[in-house]
Amino acid sequence: MAFDIEMIKSVYARMADRIDSARKVVGKPLTLSEKILYNHLWEGIPRSGFKRGKDYVDFGPDRIACQDATAQMALLQFMQAGKEKVAVPTTVHCDHLIQAKEGAAIDLKHANDVSSEVFNFLESVSNKYGIGFWKPGAGIIHQVVLENYAFPGGMMIGTDSHTVNAGGLGMLAIGVGGADAVDVMAGMAWELKFPKLIGVKLTGKLSGWTAPKDVILKVAEILTVKGGTGAIVEYFGPGATAMSCTGKGTICNMGAEIGATTSTFGYDASMERYLRSTERADIAEAANEVKEYLTADAEVYENPDAYFDQVIEINLSELGPLLNGPFTPDLSTEVGSDMTQKAKDNDWPIKVEWGLIGSCTNSSYEDLSRAASIAQQALDKGLKTKAEFGINPGSEQVRYTAERDGILQVFEKLDAKIFTNACGPCIGQWARYNDPKNAPKNSIVHSFNRNFAKRADGNPNTHAFVASPELTAAIAIAGRLDFNPLTDSLINENGEKVMLEEPSGWELPPKGFEVKENGYLEPLEDGSGVNVAVNETSQRLQMLTPFVPLGEAIMGAKLLIKAYGKCTTDHISMAGPWLRFRGHLDNIANNTLIGAVNAFNKKTNFVKNQLDGSYGGVPDVQRKYKEAGIKTIVVGDHNYGEGSSREHAAMQPRHLGVAAVIVKSFARIHETNLKKQGMLGLTFANEGDYDLIQEDDIFNFVDLDKFSPGKQLTLEIIHSDKSVDMIKLNHTYNHGQIEWYKEGSALNLIKKENA
Ligand code: F3S
Repeated sequence: MAFDIEMIKSVYARMADRIDSARKVVGKPLTLSEKILYNHLWEGIPRSGFKRGKDYVDFGPDRIACQDATAQMALLQFMQAGKEKVAVPTTVHCDHLIQAKEGAAIDLKHANDVSSEVFNFLESVSNKYGIGFWKPGAGIIHQVVLENYAFPGGMMIGTDSHTVNAGGLGMLAIGVGGADAVDVMAGMAWELKFPKLIGVKLTGKLSGWTAPKDVILKVAEILTVKGGTGAIVEYFGPGATAMSCTGKGTICNMGAEIGATTSTFGYDASMERYLRSTERADIAEAANEVKEYLTADAEVYENPDAYFDQVIEINLSELGPLLNGPFTPDLSTEVGSDMTQKAKDNDWPIKVEWGLIGSCTNSSYEDLSRAASIAQQALDKGLKTKAEFGINPGSEQVRYTAERDGILQVFEKLDAKIFTNACGPCIGQWARYNDPKNAPKNSIVHSFNRNFAKRADGNPNTHAFVASPELTAAIAIAGRLDFNPLTDSLINENGEKVMLEEPSGWELPPKGFEVKENGYLEPLEDGSGVNVAVNETSQRLQMLTPFVPLGEAIMGAKLLIKAYGKCTTDHISMAGPWLRFRGHLDNIANNTLIGAVNAFNKKTNFVKNQLDGSYGGVPDVQRKYKEAGIKTIVVGDHNYGEGSSREHAAMQPRHLGVAAVIVKSFARIHETNLKKQGMLGLTFANEGDYDLIQEDDIFNFVDLDKFSPGKQLTLEIIHSDKSVDMIKLNHTYNHGQIEWYKEGSALNLIKKENA
């Protein structure tokens, strides 16, 4: 199963050449982030430096990880590429599709019943194409990656935003959309805008009730949910090296909550301890030999302002435990400050109903042991917990070891529910209510990363607060948001006043990690004989058929929708209940653009069917055009397609027969996704031309036969009164991308090149 030590050694072997050359071309000492980026350039030895925040650069990541919800479409696409095996080590992790309700045993069985079709599909595709497969119950993708695959100085991509967690082990690990992952699986480069760099210097030392989680909650308070956008956050200083590796993982994990591209730490003794403890001593030894390349050049940390775009300093000795929320992870309240007043002013329920410990953010052995030290005190001091407890261990290895060491039993004695080693409540897979929309107002505390409305339980009235696992345990015991364990006492069952002492725990299990059945399936060496079966009547999965090229003459196209204002990938392909159709393109296409506002009537999902003048839902009307063999266009405003990088937002319109998306400006990832699916993604040369587009217009692309890089296209617009406008459209297609268009999609081209 394991990590590929030869691959890791080859990454280390090229460091001296590439990084020393990079230092020369950049002309100054390098941060750790730059070292990793330059060591993973697709072009090999860097010939020039790159402008941060400006240049788009091709990289060659070392690994790919996919979770079950996003892997479905990624693998369905990869199957189109005509490859025998993935080009880069890849794993699939079944963690998102398991609902938390009764506890691990019952819940896992239920998930295996209701989603067996999806799990079997993922397993057989993995087996066929050389992909490592982690079964449902094996653990949460990012904990499993940290325990098994992450390595200092590596670069990985993953089809999940919290892939960034692997920065705890000194990687640059970045969340991407499925289409990007498919490119890398198929042996192509991966493009990223060269990030800006934020340095966070940690001085002092964590102690008492303060945990690594509080560091990132503080950073979120300082930078806010947007402050890390387009940047890598690099942590350094004595406070960083004094922290455990899994604690560093927590900090990197929640880098996603400040919008950061990723976060990382330099290689240090805590990482070496973690590697050895997770039976990867050979990686530790290989890393020790190239140590100087696994951290920044000394000058960088001595004078960080000269090398980072922004520097933040936090003294951990002065940092207190924080409680962030509700509804946003950057709203901080220091424990012991003014929570009582804040809750009153904002009408937040002070009573806490649940304390949830786990998620990819905080489910390590250290996390569970520190939280259990608080839970044990409740037992010892005769305290009854006021809130309910739910625990999601991060992996079977953590769970098994924690059970062996009596940690889980402590929680069980407090009537905690031990849920499956999976995402559970963190992704809304929590059967807390029968009717969440009408559930009562309440507060919960958890050690997860996201606390947006409805995220955990679907109830818009649940106020979710984020804290460290140990503080979550204390607040669940006290049952109050404003409980300050440093100063407040509690009344036990004998009516006595007792206080909770500060948490204690183990960075790593003193008796080592242990696991009986880790849930991993190694793929066949030769998977060519594996048959991937998808039932034709399946509602969850559908094999893809290659898109047909749109051709050089798009004439007589109709307008599907002129979107008004913001149109994100959520407006184009909604999440929520549609998640279950992520592997079935035709079914999920029934949500296409249903969130977009029609510029002509300011309504959502209500557009004119020009064939008969009636009005209907966007997907329904589009299907009518498709039936009639008529191509359509979508018109949009600025930053069209912002938000998540989900490829469904491009694949669905393509599947339904939309030929072109013409907007004032694109979010770049979505623009690229449209190109990959063989569509036209174009911008108005004159923004004001957006206003020319009328509901009944007919569109002719008159010079598409001359489609070439840097050359505008001309669109003829015939209005219903027979008047005509000729407008110019810009595009950013290069030669290769025009080939994608001509072949019908990037995958069609890959397949052709493989044939
Ligand atoms: Fe899963 Fe929540 Fe992490 S959904 S991957 S535990 S952010």
